[in-house]
Amino acid sequence: MLIRPVEPADLDALYEVCLRTGDAGEDASAQFVDGRLLGEVYVGPYLMMPSGIGFTAVEEGAPSGYVLAAVDTRRFEAECEAGWWPPLRARYPQPVAEDPSNDDAEIIALIHNPESPPDEVVARYPAHLHIDLLPVLQGRGVGRAMMGRLLDDLRARGVPGVHLGVDARNKRAVGFYEHLGFEHLDDSDDVVMGVRLDEG
Ligand SMILES: CC(C)(COP(=O)(O)OP(=O)(O)OC[C@H]1O[C@@H](n2cnc3c(N)ncnc32)[C@H](O)[C@@H]1OP(=O)(O)O)[C@@H](O)C(=O)NCCC(=O)NCCS
Repeated sequence: MLIRPVEPADLDALYEVCLRTGDAGEDASAQFVDGRLLGEVYVGPYLMMPSGIGFTAVEEGAPSGYVLAAVDTRRFEAECEAGWWPPLRARYPQPVAEDPSNDDAEIIALIHNPESPPDEVVARYPAHLHIDLLPVLQGRGVGRAMMGRLLDDLRARGVPGVHLGVDARNKRAVGFYEHLGFEHLDDSDDVVMGVRLDEG
């Protein structure tokens, strides 16, 4: 297993990781007709926009996990408005007919109205991150190692804090983040957690 910086060529493999871990940490592939949608929101811009950074864990030659971050959330949002969302909005126009059998419409809505954390979170934790590993990599210390690489990188860039969102159903991930020193910033259905990088 090798951990290295992400490259644009990792896009398809990491979209697949995102789909296979997209239902509160479990496989979401049965919930989507278009299996690329989750990756278009949660992976693509971090590989392709200037404020995106990240690392992938390569297992037997295949990128099988990632930790991705936006160094500056507000700058990243502006970059996505300019360069990432417009072609996707054209490719996935709204309105989409509601179909209770899948979650495609929910993610297409996010392409048109992206999530944006409140100012009080961004002020103290200006970066944000996503981490997902295929089951083959879970529970082996890879998550800790990848998070370490990412937090060291953010610290070296002078970033004072990083936040993340996690589905409240994903108790394993919440426990993992707590264990690594993240604090709860908001406990709704989407839990928001953060860690300062310039304290302690
Ligand atoms: C959540 C995830 C990133 C954790 O990575 P991991 O490689 O499985 O975790 P590690 O093996 O590196 O564990 C690191 C440490 O956290 C601890 N830990 C892991 N899960 C924990 C939990 N639920 N509660 C408390 N501690 C936990 C481990 O015991 C380990 O402790 P140590 O290093 O002090 O011995 C990974 O399991 C994953 O990708 N899951 C599926 C996708 C997902 O849920 N992503 C998060 C979406 S927000």
